Amino acid sequence: MQIDWEVLKTEAIKAMQNAYVPYSKFPVGVAALTEDGRVVSGCNIENASYGVTLCAECSMVSDLFRTGGGRLVAFYCVDKHNNILMPCGRCRQLLYEHSAPGMLLETVSGIKTIDEVIPDAFGPRDLEARA
Ligand code: THU
Repeated sequence: MQIDWEVLKTEAIKAMQNAYVPYSKFPVGVAALTEDGRVVSGCNIENASYGVTLCAECSMVSDLFRTGGGRLVAFYCVDKHNNILMPCGRCRQLLYEHSAPGMLLETVSGIKTIDEVIPDAFGPRDLEARA
């Protein structure tokens, strides 16, 4: 499948501009391509109870399901300077859950697979295999 990284970057930047970040002042935007060719996106949404903050990836996963579900094949994350940002550890787990095999991420050190950014991950298959 052809991945248009520029489209993902543009959509991530657009999403980032809608972030609600009164506490950190650190807006994040993400976008991803789905297996069926949709582009989903999200921004971070903070909360006065800081720990309740939704990372941009959380709102993107909501967008994924809201628009029909499916799996992610390519992912892009930006900060307020439009620079590439690495997803936090929790969000790597979130992305892993909804990844297509071999999902790609644009990272600070080039394009990587989901397995490279969360090696030996615990995931849905473990629940079955180790039940
Ligand atoms: N943040 C994200 O939205 N995604 C990440 O992967 C990294 C961190 C947000 C959470 C918080 O609103 C802000 O960045 C500062 O940590």
